[in-house]
Amino acid sequence: MNIILIGYMGSGKSSVGSELASKLNRKLVDLDDYIQKKESSSISKIFSEKGEIYFRKIERAYLEQILLENNDIILSTGGGTPCYGDTMQFLIENKSLKTVYLQTSLDLLTDRLQKEKDKRPVIAHLKTKEDLNDFIRKHLFERSYYYNQSSEKINTDTLSITEITDSIIEKLL
Ligand code: S3P
Repeated sequence: MNIILIGYMGSGKSSVGSELASKLNRKLVDLDDYIQKKESSSISKIFSEKGEIYFRKIERAYLEQILLENNDIILSTGGGTPCYGDTMQFLIENKSLKTVYLQTSLDLLTDRLQKEKDKRPVIAHLKTKEDLNDFIRKHLFERSYYYNQSSEKINTDTLSITEITDSIIEKLL
């Protein structure tokens, strides 16, 4: 069974994914890294040169490719992966995977993303912390509709990466 980590940018999908993969001795695929390798480009460059619609199209296509080619992996997705087209439905209908939503509060996401927004084209243009906080509030509200359809949900606010990882193992295995 594949384990798919979903959640907003900055929710810890990559860090949790890598600890989960090493604890379970499974292969880790990071969808953003996979896209960058396949396209020989960075996420920021893909957005600026080809546009977001192109990015969403290949994001979905690579997701399908990864799931077709793998059986027991940990997959950390991008924050928008389940939120476009019918991707969440596609994940729900796939019986050989479980989705885990890493739920993180608005203020924690704002603090984390303020420090690392430059490589994230969706938020790179936001100048002040207040702008970022406002943007995330609305965006998270829209995206939560999709995130909340996941098989499992973990509120990560008070948990370390290790505690989140152990909680996923306890819930799923
Ligand atoms: C995006 C999140 C990013 C990356 C791209 C778009 C989004 O991944 O896929 O910049 O729309 O939320 P992370 O969640 O790993 O930052």
